[in-house]
Amino acid sequence: MLFGIVLLSFSVWDVIVGFPGGAPPNSCPDPAPIHQRRINSTHVGIFFPQSMATSPYKITTSASRYFNGSMIRVTLKADPGDYFRGFFIQATRANYALDRGDRPAYGTFRPADTNSQARRCRSAVGKVGGITHTGNNNKTEISFDWEPPRGCDLGDIQFVATVVRAYSEYWVDVRSDVIKPSGFIGDRGLLCQLYVNPYSKILQRRVLSALRNIQTMQQRRGTGSGSLATQG
Ligand SMILES: *[C@@H]1O[C@H](CO)[C@@H](O)[C@H](O)[C@H]1NC(C)=O
Ligand SMILES: *[C@@H]1O[C@H](CO)[C@@H](O)[C@H](O)[C@H]1NC(C)=O
Ligand SMILES: *[C@@H]1O[C@H](CO)[C@@H](O)[C@H](O)[C@H]1NC(C)=O
Repeated sequence: MLFGIVLLSFSVWDVIVGFPGGAPPNSCPDPAPIHQRRINSTHVGIFFPQSMATSPYKITTSASRYFNGSMIRVTLKADPGDYFRGFFIQATRANYALDRGDRPAYGTFRPADTNSQARRCRSAVGKVGGITHTGNNNKTEISFDWEPPRGCDLGDIQFVATVVRAYSEYWVDVRSDVIKPSGFIGDRGLLCQLYVNPYSKILQRRVLSALRNIQTMQQRRGTGSGSLATQG
């Protein structure tokens, strides 16, 4: 049952020692790891991200469009001779600044092998998520699949990665090309509107109220059926 799970959280990678087992849950809103460095006995500093101009990483995708029910193979790759140890990737609104507080995270990631694991970013209705590493070994390339929520035109999207080469060296805004929607018709349904604007209080209230109505109807009918569609 979907009731009561539209919880939104803002947390950062607030751990002091790296993440050998992957980025922590809820890394979507602020995907910058906080990598600390002891300056002396009383002071601790942090390592800042590297300039994007120096990024040795690329995100490529198997398609430049997504449609209802499509699955896109996403690959994070280091330049020849380079490598990475950790990463966190999410799908988000195209060309939207990473630090915008209302930036959505879209779809569901599926690991292609044991080198990556899906991360739930919020307990939201759409399995909204990201994906991260499982171990901090040196890697040159990693692939996984991404599925948009069913029947939902998210508009233009982009994959965005935080990539860690070493504890003191990481990049926070590695982006893929823009992926465009294809073949969607009609208006966005209520749930789809919420995916696109997950922080809209009005939409949150409307979805909660719709879910409550569904629950009430189910209790009256004594059945377990009923769901909220993504399309209008
Ligand atoms: C530690 O480093 C900070 C920042 O550079 C400095 O202000 C402080 O005086 C230092 N403390 C000691 C005990 O060296
Ligand atoms: C990863 O690669 C770097 C640079 O080549 C090397 O210094 C380091 O030892 C490697 N780490 C592992 C665990 O292989
Ligand atoms: C998306 O696909 C599902 C399952 O194939 C179908 O039921 C639904 O009508 C489609 N939605 C749109 C907007 O095309």
